[in-house]
Amino acid sequence: MITHPAYRVEPWCLRETELNLDVLSQSESVFALSNGHVGWRGNLDEGEPHGLPGTYLNGVYEFRPLPYAEAGYGYPESGQTVINVTNGKLIRLLVDDEPFDLRYGKLHKHERVLEFRTGLLHRTAEWTSPSGRTVRVKSTRLVSFSQRAVAAVAYEVEPLDGDVRIVVQSELVANEQLPHAGGDPRAAAVLETPLVSEQHAAHGPRIRLLHRTHHSGLRLGVSAAHVVDGGEKTEMSSESSDDLARFTITSRLCSGQRLRVEKFVAHGWSAMRSMPAVHDQVDAALAGAVSTGWQGLADEQRSYLDGFWARADVEVDGDAEIQQAARFALFHVLQAGARGEARALPAKGLTGPGYDGHCFWDTETFVLPLLTYTAPQAVEQALRWRYNTLPAAHERARQLGLKGAAFPWRTINGDECSGYWPAGTAAFHINADIADAVVRYIRATCDETFEREVGLPLLVETARLWRSLGHHDHHGDFHIDGVTGPDEYSAVSDDNLYTNLMAQHNLREAAALAEHHPDLAAALGVDDEETAAWRDAATRMSVPYNDELQVHEQSEGFTRHQAWDFAHTGDDQYPLMLHFPYFDLYRKQVVKQADLVLAMCLRGDAFTAEEKARNFRYYEQLTVRDSSLSACGQAVMAAEVGHTRLAYDYLGEAAMMDLSDLEGNTRDGIHIASLAGTWFALVVGFGGLREDDGLIGFTPRLPEQLGRLAFTVQFRQQRLRVEITDKKATYTLLDGDTLRIRHCGECLTLSVDVPETRQVPVITAGRAPEQPAGRGPARRGRAIGHAEEPAR
Ligand code: BGC
Repeated sequence: MITHPAYRVEPWCLRETELNLDVLSQSESVFALSNGHVGWRGNLDEGEPHGLPGTYLNGVYEFRPLPYAEAGYGYPESGQTVINVTNGKLIRLLVDDEPFDLRYGKLHKHERVLEFRTGLLHRTAEWTSPSGRTVRVKSTRLVSFSQRAVAAVAYEVEPLDGDVRIVVQSELVANEQLPHAGGDPRAAAVLETPLVSEQHAAHGPRIRLLHRTHHSGLRLGVSAAHVVDGGEKTEMSSESSDDLARFTITSRLCSGQRLRVEKFVAHGWSAMRSMPAVHDQVDAALAGAVSTGWQGLADEQRSYLDGFWARADVEVDGDAEIQQAARFALFHVLQAGARGEARALPAKGLTGPGYDGHCFWDTETFVLPLLTYTAPQAVEQALRWRYNTLPAAHERARQLGLKGAAFPWRTINGDECSGYWPAGTAAFHINADIADAVVRYIRATCDETFEREVGLPLLVETARLWRSLGHHDHHGDFHIDGVTGPDEYSAVSDDNLYTNLMAQHNLREAAALAEHHPDLAAALGVDDEETAAWRDAATRMSVPYNDELQVHEQSEGFTRHQAWDFAHTGDDQYPLMLHFPYFDLYRKQVVKQADLVLAMCLRGDAFTAEEKARNFRYYEQLTVRDSSLSACGQAVMAAEVGHTRLAYDYLGEAAMMDLSDLEGNTRDGIHIASLAGTWFALVVGFGGLREDDGLIGFTPRLPEQLGRLAFTVQFRQQRLRVEITDKKATYTLLDGDTLRIRHCGECLTLSVDVPETRQVPVITAGRAPEQPAGRGPARRGRAIGHAEEPAR
């Protein structure tokens, strides 16, 4: 956990004013730049010191062995892991005869600023070398939203105490040495030198490296060009070898003179193209970047982000730290998805190697809702990627003896990578999560091309899976047995309520869409009998309920299980999965992460208000939040049932997950879903955003700690601004013509630029629910800054 005040609280940027090597790797994750295609960790320009060097290309991976002590039918034979590709960030510096290395000499000033409006990462360092020479280094970095292959650095060196000789080495480095990751030596071997050289070149200020992966059959290239402004005594040379291409600049600088180097980098990869084609691909991207120029790229970046913030900004009064965290979250979620272009959106984005770079249900359930209402083209692309992986999902279903498509629990290329059935493939709900994201996107955009080409096939194939995975019992009730819901502390159970309700939605929507497109559906082999079977299964879907306790059951029989002994579980025994055997967790009432509570967020229509309140109270006392995905769903439901103070505390946890490194693993990359959860808690929780049958609606409820919440969302190509105080909500349609919305159930028709204001009803909720001993969220203080004493 980051306990020192690492970052200043400012509304539109993240600023670090001290270099703390103990949290360097965490800062590399939070300062990472990405556009969803290329990811550069926030490593220092000169490469060292580093926590974890990282450059990632979405979709570039290597196979890694998946060793099993006891193998079984249907276990994936190998996994995939993201690899650290050629590093184009490196700019090493020699000051007189000393390497610029902040571990030596004296650092007088250090600042890094990530600006959410410009998308630029600025760095300033003033440093005296061990031999007493003082220089100022300034760099600014971007990973372009407008030119997806491109990243660029503007780097400046200035002497602060008289003449100095400067050598700048701007490099491309492949197979760079990584800190030892431990673990399985076979996997480590794959990761240590993942790239095989195919070509290298250096022509003056232009350098290039082409490589391929050993086993996954991918070819990747990177080219760089430089523009130098360094006064008269500047010399330049370049050289290359298999894993290194270098452009060297030597200069003698007098006081007041400055050496400026603009480095343009273009990354590319392909599973199919030949070496000359990849070579041309990166050189062409580079030519585009050079002709745009540094300022041009920075201007394009700003205008891309202006468009995003006009659709997506969230304003929070009363908690400056949450304000900053909300924009930080929006910025990173955009970075993860903006230019993914029919590739996966991994759990860590492209900010680190955590979870092997895999994509999970996190994307559809937590990240895509935010993007649906703020950057819908990114959702279209993320779901198109799922569509493109349908052949693998069909094959997996076939292998499992099922119909339709079985999407993987974790993957990069579409093949299942989870070797642990109970918390992997058995989490079949991923299929319904994908369907839910499809429906949400279609309703929010009315994108008919997508609906026909992508939406319909995805809904049909996922509905087929449910129909074949479940069965009608002799009363006609439909059951889905032996599956794992979101809560990974229960596994392979019958009728997981979350799965059943999401599958029900999936089946109904598939039937409706198939009937809406009879010809296309017929081409997919759907007939009336099949849609009737889907509707039947949906209507007779089992929804387990305990009459005596008057609560829903997370899965059949769950509330009968023994309760976990929280009183005798020490604080140091969390997360439980690292201290107790799964078999023990599985047979007791203990919840890793919101499961039934999440079902109440996503399928609110399936519960009465009283059921929601009772269920929430019951599952709160069992939920330990050993996953970062939990707090935001709990925040939404706490707000809905009226516990706004508790919701506010959960918001704090989701928002500070990476800025405070709450789970101690931000070094491996940031938690994209938890960041999206910040928006979820604010907009879906306190704003009460829900979409029902094509109407977007709000039931606002602010905690008293927040004086005002305002946000913009995009719905059917129109932007809607919502401004909420404790008493009133004002809705303003910013463009388009008219839009029908709901406010607390009442229908309003908005005309453009004519604000409508309504009262916010007061809600009372009674006694706050309890969490397991020691597992309540940290209580947020009123003032800026710090999560303070625990809630109870
Ligand atoms: C959670 C999963 C999640 C995965 C990746 C696990 O700890 O339990 O729900 O998909 O992390 O974020």
